[in-house]
Amino acid sequence: MEELLKIEQLQVAFSTEEGPVEALDGVELTILQGTFHGLIGETGCGKSVTGQAILGLLDNNALIKGGRILYRDQDLLRLSPRKIERTIRGKEIAMIFQDPGSSLNPLFTIKNQIEEAIRLHRKAPAEKREEMVLQALKQVKLPDAENLMYRYPHQLSGGMKQRVMIAMMLACNPKLLIADEPTTALDVSIQAQFIKVLKELKEKLSLTVLYITHDLAVISELCDYVSVMYAGRIAENLSMRDLFKDPRHPYTIKLVNSVLGATTTLDQLEEIPGSVPRLINPPGGCRFHPRCEEAIPVCSQEAPPLREIKANHSVACHRR
Ligand SMILES: Nc1ncnc2c1ncn2[C@@H]1O[C@H](COP(=O)(O)OP(=O)(O)O)[C@@H](O)[C@H]1O
Ligand code: SF4
Ligand SMILES: [Mg+2]
Repeated sequence: MEELLKIEQLQVAFSTEEGPVEALDGVELTILQGTFHGLIGETGCGKSVTGQAILGLLDNNALIKGGRILYRDQDLLRLSPRKIERTIRGKEIAMIFQDPGSSLNPLFTIKNQIEEAIRLHRKAPAEKREEMVLQALKQVKLPDAENLMYRYPHQLSGGMKQRVMIAMMLACNPKLLIADEPTTALDVSIQAQFIKVLKELKEKLSLTVLYITHDLAVISELCDYVSVMYAGRIAENLSMRDLFKDPRHPYTIKLVNSVLGATTTLDQLEEIPGSVPRLINPPGGCRFHPRCEEAIPVCSQEAPPLREIKANHSVACHRR
């Protein structure tokens, strides 16, 4: 399968009054065309920062210290903000966020907003745009699209707004979609509908998605590959099948065991004592060592590099 996006050795720090926050330290992951790629880890591990770095959306106090983000052989980190805005964002790579409301403009109808997105990102004659709006709304299974498109965001429920967001993106036909905890703000039954819509789109449109979440149950329903993050580094990159059949990193193993138990949300993990360290002064060596039952002396001295153990499976641990 073709590599659509490849992150190599990405290092990002934030400057703060208390000192630099080493948020990403050598992140490596590859997203294959036509797959759903999950990015999981507890809160504060660097998942959102990874997503934001891809689209040049990092906060102003961010400093990219190294690495490359290759999208079809061009390094996105070398493009100017203007070039990203004009040639990549929306058109090639689109992002949906946790709070759909914040991304829709309350002053315009759904139709206006989706048409505007199409105008900005696609070459389509004006008279074709309405048809494209309708088609996109129908793709995400919004009922009565012909009337719904004349409504304003405040007239829609949270779940509907989330689907309008997806419709808006689909209308722009991006090659890669980054979804950062898109269901966290929705209640459980609406989450389930949302995931069903995404699954259908996956089959119909061969969309490529980077799906960021701390909810392993969602990942296991949707994704083909998974990257497990811990404290700003990738602990393990592996297929969905290996996640449950052959996890190697002690952190991954804990996560999987916890899903097989009662809790699925990483923030409820009681099985792993301790919490994600603050990244101002992260632990030396393997950042997981203070919480790892398998740690040996070298673990606190040297950071384990990510090593490939078989095709599509790499792990960063001294003991694997
Ligand atoms: N603008 C910022 N300034 C300082 N620290 C930041 C900033 N943005 C993110 N961070 C820090 O970077 C780390 C990773 O954050 P984030 O990617 O949001 O985690 P996640 O999405 O996995 O919950 C956290 O320690 C967070 O506090
Ligand atoms: S490198 Fe050491 S501390 Fe880190 S996960 Fe492996 S065994 Fe545990
Ligand atoms: Mg986040």
